[in-house]
Amino acid sequence: MKEDTKNNKIVSLDELASKVETFKNNKQVVIQSHGVFDLIHPGIIQHLESAKNQGNVLIVTIIKDKDVKKGPNRPIFPEKLRAENIAALTIVDFVCVVDDEKPFDSVNQINPDFLARGQAYKEQDRHLYKEIYEEQQELFFGKTNILETPGISFDESEIKKNFTENYPDDTKIFLESFSKKYNFKKIADSLNKLKDMNVLVIGDGIIDEYHYCEPLGKSGKTNLIVFKYQAHETFVGGAIAIANHVAGICNKVELVTLLGKKNPKDDLIKENIKPNIIGTFFYRDDGPTIVKKRYLHQYLNQKVFEVNFINDQPINNSFEKEIISSLSSIVPKYDLVLVSDFGHGFITPNIFAAIKKHSKFLSVNTQTNGANSGYNLITKYNGADFVCLDEGEVRLAAQEKYQNIETVAKNIRENLNINNFIVTLGKKGSLGVTHKNTVNHTPIFSTRVLDTIGAGDAYFSYTAPCTSSGLPLDLVSFIGNAAGAIAVQIMGNKRAVEKYEVLELISELIH
Ligand SMILES: Nc1ncnc2c1ncn2[C@@H]1O[C@H](COP(=O)(O)OP(=O)(O)OP(=O)(O)O)[C@@H](O)[C@H]1O
Ligand SMILES: [Mg+2]
Repeated sequence: MKEDTKNNKIVSLDELASKVETFKNNKQVVIQSHGVFDLIHPGIIQHLESAKNQGNVLIVTIIKDKDVKKGPNRPIFPEKLRAENIAALTIVDFVCVVDDEKPFDSVNQINPDFLARGQAYKEQDRHLYKEIYEEQQELFFGKTNILETPGISFDESEIKKNFTENYPDDTKIFLESFSKKYNFKKIADSLNKLKDMNVLVIGDGIIDEYHYCEPLGKSGKTNLIVFKYQAHETFVGGAIAIANHVAGICNKVELVTLLGKKNPKDDLIKENIKPNIIGTFFYRDDGPTIVKKRYLHQYLNQKVFEVNFINDQPINNSFEKEIISSLSSIVPKYDLVLVSDFGHGFITPNIFAAIKKHSKFLSVNTQTNGANSGYNLITKYNGADFVCLDEGEVRLAAQEKYQNIETVAKNIRENLNINNFIVTLGKKGSLGVTHKNTVNHTPIFSTRVLDTIGAGDAYFSYTAPCTSSGLPLDLVSFIGNAAGAIAVQIMGNKRAVEKYEVLELISELIH
């Protein structure tokens, strides 16, 4: 439909009333449907189609935003968009945005042949609200004939409920009680306030390459499957990806990272960091900018093989001194520091001591990966304000393979003097332990997983600013899992998790 045709259908109440009068004089049967029309679902289309089938002209009145009484955060879409949505439907002849302070007032003013009401109202009629419905009719549409349309029997609030219907019972119970404690507005306000925070991200710079291949068959000469190259993608990873996540929630971010003089790839990095990030790059002489090249089975999305281009020896003493001297002037400028340590030789004990000495609020993640194979443990760090690790990293640090994770987490928190501690548990969500040893368990909110790589980084990036702004750890954990749910639907670090996505998801979770 052409834009102008769609907009020509949207008319004022006076225009509509006079049009309806003309139609009726010409023996045309006019049907009116009246409602919010926030989410267009099959039930609505069926209702409008069957309404139109019983007359000649179908008009739709859309309730103004101010008069929508569907509970918090509704309508989702403003009246203008709701009207345009309905006007785009060919079966609808005219649309009008109306006051509904006195419900159904527009029906009396327009005086159609029929007011069409959908199944949701019929359900209401049959069950609990029979009397209210009769009262409504008497009060509001007087003598107007009612036409009941068949169709799928649910209204929009049902869809909102259906969204969480797929979750396991534990998650539903969690959301039920969480919604009683925190409302959407409070969470959105808390996240929006973070934009004024100045944040420094320090850590190893990594380039992630994904090479998608198709298996051909086994080599005749060795025990090897031969693959055919199909395509590849390159993303910025490590601390660079963390800075991009944080830059979506905080306006001012600086990234201090270590690259290599051999094959620096800094142009690629500059192109792929958000414009509100100041990039401060140090280059080691004795190695390249780290590249992690992964080969994947294209259709299964399974990683088959990974090659790291890396020198992960600790940086030399004079370079270390140079970096420490810069950090001692950079770190004090920031409200919050995120150390994202991938264990590739950048964050030496002396560098960490310098960061700790100057930072107002220190948060740390020590990543375990193939290259550091268990040597990069949180036990190097003492006295951080916030630490976020995955379960494997915590168990390695504690040298506890089987003990209950809650006990392990509490011990690590105490031994390392961590103020707030979160352990991410992959598809089991996360476990938070406060400085008072209060524990929260938070489930996952995503049932669709594309790639979990980088989910922990997104979790850390969202939770560190939240914790440093003083939010309670159960709320922090909730926001972290919402960010994690978005991250698992993104391939690697292809792009950052954006605040609006997290808020959108949260608005669906909390009712
Ligand atoms: N399989 C999954 N299904 C749903 N959500 C997941 C899954 N894996 C991770 N998540 C979400 O992402 C968060 C962080 O994931 P995880 O514990 O795997 O971090 P991680 O091991 O540090 O990841 P990485 O280091 O690759 O970034 C979890 O708390 C959860 O919210
Ligand atoms: Mg991780």
